[in-house]
Amino acid sequence: MTDLATLETDLTAQIAAAADEAALEAVRVAALGKKGSLSALLATLGQMAPEERKTAGAAINQVKDRVTEALTLRREVLKSAALDARLAAETVDVTLPVRESPTETGRIHPISQVMDELTAIFADMGFAIAEGPDIETDDYNFTKLNFPEGHPAREMHDTFFFNPKADGERMLLRTHTSPVQVRTMLSNKPPIRVICPGRTYRCDSDQTHTPMFHQVEGLVIDKGSHIGHLKWILEEFCKAFFEVDSVKMRFRPSFFPFTEPSMEVDIQCNRQGGEVRFGEGEDWLEILGCGMVHPNVIRNCGLDPDVYQGFAWGMGIDRIAMLKYGINDLRQFFEADVRWLSHYGFRPLDLPTLAGGLSS
Ligand code: DAH
Repeated sequence: MTDLATLETDLTAQIAAAADEAALEAVRVAALGKKGSLSALLATLGQMAPEERKTAGAAINQVKDRVTEALTLRREVLKSAALDARLAAETVDVTLPVRESPTETGRIHPISQVMDELTAIFADMGFAIAEGPDIETDDYNFTKLNFPEGHPAREMHDTFFFNPKADGERMLLRTHTSPVQVRTMLSNKPPIRVICPGRTYRCDSDQTHTPMFHQVEGLVIDKGSHIGHLKWILEEFCKAFFEVDSVKMRFRPSFFPFTEPSMEVDIQCNRQGGEVRFGEGEDWLEILGCGMVHPNVIRNCGLDPDVYQGFAWGMGIDRIAMLKYGINDLRQFFEADVRWLSHYGFRPLDLPTLAGGLSS
């Protein structure tokens, strides 16, 4: 075999053996590059006699053409093999769950969620939000709310008192959200329609009591507000909050110094099978206290009880959150356990709205 034939066989074998495009490129450079083997052969033409050059030149150029074509074909094969391999390696399983972005991994605490839910419901009924401080005066927490000095109802509140000030006044951690009623009536003219969600404190701790808990107070003061309005508002609230079409409610006579008459409200439910279902069953669950605001309270807050009347209620937020979301120990709310929160918490961007759904 001539040198040229050997070289062609060699190059053809190398081209066929090139495993990838980089290896193939190396073969091309080694053959056709400036210092390549075929280029070197072409360079020898210059020293040949014209006759010899004619035949040798044609022969070398034919080999060059065939090698170039072989390179092109092999490159196509390698290119599509590389693409196939990449497509196989980069497949995406679109059925896998989407990984959460970092901004979505935090969770909203169920208490905050429930506060947002009830705010959405009452805002829809035309209520404004009122707030007051956690550290209250005895006057606003008790006296203006018609708790006489030394009345046993004060004792029932298990109050956390601060040390007396120089003038003898003792501040306290508010035992209920009702002092916000006082603040609202003192600073606003009727008609008044507010809810007051917030923290409250009592010296008590067991499965259903924690020293700090949450209430939402409601207050309506106008000239003609009556118990019928109160019942309607509470029923509509319960249906919207528990996301059921109907709730049976029971209004039981009770006593609070700041309302007359006073009632406690139970809702009918089914507690069988370890879960609470609303709108069915034979059990009753107490969820709030309410009543017509006592004329003394209206007077204590600078309004004329012969002109204005109204109603109020106080509901335990933690309690309704436990009922709605199946949490059985109140203390879990305050243990700050991230595992608990990631299970019971809510996605940060799912804001509860009446139109979009409260808890979905
Ligand atoms: N403040 C009461 C409590 O904490 C709850 C309550 C009852 C509030 C009746 C009210 C009401 O506004 O009218 O036990």
